[in-house]
Amino acid sequence: MGKPLIPIGTPIYLGDDALTQLDLWLKKEKMSSVFILVDENTLQHCLPRLIGRVKSLANAEIIELESGELNKTPDVVLQVWRVLSELGADRQSLIINLGGGVLSDLGGFVASTFKRGIRFLNIPTTLLAQIDASVGGKTGVDLDGLKNEIGTFSEPEAVFIYPDFLQTLSKREMLAGFAEAIKHGLIADASYWKKIKITSIADNQAWPELIARSVEIKSEIVQEDPKEKGLRKSLNFGHTIGHAIEAFFLERVSSSVLHGEAVAAGMICEAWLSNQQAKLSADELEDITQFITQRYLPITLDDDADHRLIELMRHDKKNEGGKIRFTLLERIGQAKWHVACSPDQIIEALQYYRYSVKSALLIR
Ligand SMILES: NC(=O)c1ccc[n+]([C@@H]2O[C@H](COP(=O)([O-])OP(=O)(O)OC[C@H]3O[C@@H](n4cnc5c(N)ncnc54)[C@H](O)[C@@H]3O)[C@@H](O)[C@H]2O)c1
Ligand SMILES: [Zn+2]
Repeated sequence: MGKPLIPIGTPIYLGDDALTQLDLWLKKEKMSSVFILVDENTLQHCLPRLIGRVKSLANAEIIELESGELNKTPDVVLQVWRVLSELGADRQSLIINLGGGVLSDLGGFVASTFKRGIRFLNIPTTLLAQIDASVGGKTGVDLDGLKNEIGTFSEPEAVFIYPDFLQTLSKREMLAGFAEAIKHGLIADASYWKKIKITSIADNQAWPELIARSVEIKSEIVQEDPKEKGLRKSLNFGHTIGHAIEAFFLERVSSSVLHGEAVAAGMICEAWLSNQQAKLSADELEDITQFITQRYLPITLDDDADHRLIELMRHDKKNEGGKIRFTLLERIGQAKWHVACSPDQIIEALQYYRYSVKSALLIR
């Protein structure tokens, strides 16, 4: 087999030959049966290409799930467990997650719990999953609208990243995924942030390098702190408020906000908190705010949303001692975690977000 992207840890293959590497991997391993999890979009856009390139998958069982965060639930997990059981899956079976972060989070959770754990592979098909969600071993589902409330730490056997799958992804989904790359630069690598600022995600030539650097940053962090005792918390920058915004909109079916869009807004709020609580300079705050507001559409959060958003933040897994804890930036490229912020400060951060998106709209 070819060389994985990262020399240690879960093998991650990236590039045009990722599907060839998958073929080689499947020939090398023994398994009793293979189940490919897809949603209606990856069934249409990615599965034919996968099976066309990897002939040994022609006899795999296909399990189709309905796409969307609203389906990342224990109910769907139960349905998949049942299907696997009915189709005779055993401990030598293999699950292949062919999809975005919703599918790999759910499929990884199913695999890690079915018969006390069976092997699985991730083949991420969204930018967000290629640069972030498919790597790092977090699996899980939402519970009654609370993000990732149930889950496990379970590594796939390997990850195969084929950037060409992104050709059919919408611009909106590409931009949502880009938010996680922005996060990687902000928490860990100022020169990557500079590169991100001049990257156009419409340019498919730029994808492999972007994916490679993001995966490297995430893998290094995860290898040092797989169970999130400290350093791994840095990956949660933008996510305390971001997850609350995402969950807030999941409760309201009338409008929808994607995970990456909520994280982009969360990063503006948490950059403001970083300026107040963690030494991030006013210039850097301005730099981050401008970059994000110029690219992402504003999310409408009425003032009366604040109370519910804070309630949702109280469920965040990073909290301790009854306080809402944040990952903040000391400067671009350097994160600090476990910082408690008060509800009043959080409300001010949300006000800063409202003000910033309004100003950006006036400039447009
Ligand atoms: N486990 C982790 O470490 C981790 C990290 C970040 C995010 N996440 C989770 O990831 C989820 C978001 O993932 P996502 O943004 O990939 O969303 P997603 O899985 O919902 O995919 C987005 C949409 O794109 C469609 N799609 C997928 N691949 C396609 C393709 N190649 N062409 C056309 N359409 C395609 C999907 O069907 C879906 O409608 C959230 O639940 C978030 O919590 C997990
Ligand atoms: Zn995320």
